[in-house]
Amino acid sequence: MKTWSRHNYLRRMKKVNINEKFQCFNEHWTPKVIGELNGQHLKLAKVKGEFVWHDHADEDELFLVYKGILCLDFRDGTTVELQPGEFYIVPKSVEHRPRTKGDEEVWLMLIEPAGIKHTGDVVDEKTVEVCEWI
Ligand code: NI
Repeated sequence: MKTWSRHNYLRRMKKVNINEKFQCFNEHWTPKVIGELNGQHLKLAKVKGEFVWHDHADEDELFLVYKGILCLDFRDGTTVELQPGEFYIVPKSVEHRPRTKGDEEVWLMLIEPAGIKHTGDVVDEKTVEVCEWI
């Protein structure tokens, strides 16, 4: 894309309302892309229960909680608990397991490189190959 046409494209971008985007889907552990900048994707996810243990060899991953409480478990036995408005960046190659408390549904935002694999090199029934744009 030429610089000028990309410039025009960006100028035409409509503002995004995050609450409205969250109304567009209901699946759990299925991140949706809502924006892209500088090679990074901005994603929304609704999660409930336990995800799979995994790591991303080359990518740091940001978790920002929008609603509910998200727990991030680590292999050293520690857990980071995130409230709405709090975020945590999991460094590349650090194994992690996101989960929620009980049956609470949690809404979160992710920022990570566009090409990142959902569950790293782990393949699981929850693994999503290509994240849908909404
Ligand atoms: Ni991850």
